[in-house]
Amino acid sequence: MLDVVKSTSPSIPFEVTDPERIPAARYYDEEFYKLELERLWPHVWQMACRLEQIPEPGDWVEYSNVGRSVLIVRTENGVKAYHNACRHRGVPIAGGHGNEGGKPAFGNCSSQGFVCPFHGWRWNMDGENTLVYGSHHFNKRQLDPNDIRLVECRVEEAIGCAWINFDDDAPSFRETMGPLIDRLEAHNLHKLRAEWWYQTTIPANWKVAMEAFMEGYHVMTTHPQLQDAVPNMYDSRYRNDGPFSLADPSLDLAGNIEAQLLSMQRLSEGMAGMLHAKELEIARSLKDFKSLGIEFPEDVNQALMMWLGVVQAQITAQLQANGEPVPDLNTVCQTHPVNAVEFLMPHYFLLPYFSSFSAYRIRPTGPEECIFELWSLTTFPEGQEPDPVMEPRVLPYDSAEFPPIPRQDYSNIPIQQKGLHAKGFEFMRLAENVEGMVSNYQRIIDGYLKGEDPKKLAEATQKLGGNFDGPILELGF
Ligand code: FES
Ligand SMILES: [Fe+2]
Repeated sequence: MLDVVKSTSPSIPFEVTDPERIPAARYYDEEFYKLELERLWPHVWQMACRLEQIPEPGDWVEYSNVGRSVLIVRTENGVKAYHNACRHRGVPIAGGHGNEGGKPAFGNCSSQGFVCPFHGWRWNMDGENTLVYGSHHFNKRQLDPNDIRLVECRVEEAIGCAWINFDDDAPSFRETMGPLIDRLEAHNLHKLRAEWWYQTTIPANWKVAMEAFMEGYHVMTTHPQLQDAVPNMYDSRYRNDGPFSLADPSLDLAGNIEAQLLSMQRLSEGMAGMLHAKELEIARSLKDFKSLGIEFPEDVNQALMMWLGVVQAQITAQLQANGEPVPDLNTVCQTHPVNAVEFLMPHYFLLPYFSSFSAYRIRPTGPEECIFELWSLTTFPEGQEPDPVMEPRVLPYDSAEFPPIPRQDYSNIPIQQKGLHAKGFEFMRLAENVEGMVSNYQRIIDGYLKGEDPKKLAEATQKLGGNFDGPILELGF
């Protein structure tokens, strides 16, 4: 077992002291939740919106989480973010409660600007106050233009999203996430668009929800239809103690291709995206490998890899020919490989496959409840992108309208939350080499709660990139 270097920082309740054991109370204790609100969320980069939602100067979106609201605004000088509180008496100036009563939740602010719904003060998209109604009623010092500007919040644009951070001293988003962002941008993630967006509320701690996606060890039981298509692939990864094998040695290349296509179909239909239907169609068109005029090697594993290379080459060629911003997939898989799941601390993650992705964001609404969102991201012919999806489709977490794979995941998350309260259940026990990410993630959270050096926290955060299904790691604190 890995020895964790003990920090000299003050201790916190329910700290992870054994990296293979995660105390159950971290997922429901009120005090622990309060500590997260005070010491984690105000210091991390949060995914605030998709940039396609604010294409024109004056377009804006409200982002709220753990009781704080921020307005993300496209201006003539890039994207800006403002804390959503009127400089008069604190009413949110847009979105949320401040915009109820028939005012649109989304709307361009380039002409009127933002108008406070209480007494009508106004601001332009650059945050400058443009009107104080009846300004002669105020002492002059109360209306210093600099003092009644909207208060800016840090914001950065990357991988198709706006990212905000309340901490003016935190390392930048790119410094925090490190090479993961380059890898994702090499896959043109910033050029993808949302084709749909779902939201639900789940009665579970937000970390329980995140951790349901940190390993593939649950696939055999939670998503049996995926294992059933390519049993050898999952068995060699999780069940047997032997080397991983993509191909099933008991099948020839034709049999393996058929199994892969079934697996792709179940992933694609199960996620309603990620492995996109248009990509599945291209893969299916290459099923008859003998007609491809390629000499495939004897070794069935190598032959299958080669066939998958042909699939990627064809997806690249056909989607590019359609004007879609797809990179050369075979090249970027070599130069900038991405993993089955890529996490961005603390609440956003991506599931790549070929050129399309699924994206998830989770926000706590209490110690035992969270908002869970899911996007399908894909490419469209450039210049023919659809109108942006401005609002999520909100469903109950057990809705049959969710795609089957998330529905299977959602079936476990709330019951796990209940089980965590059982008498005698003190800690989750982790498999050190396939559930290591859960431990690493929880120990980074401890780092924030204990006020570790932000640089060290950023270094630890970068270790989550590529750690899906991975081992427990030394984090440096
Ligand atoms: S609170 Fe906004 S104008 Fe008064
Ligand atoms: Fe799952």
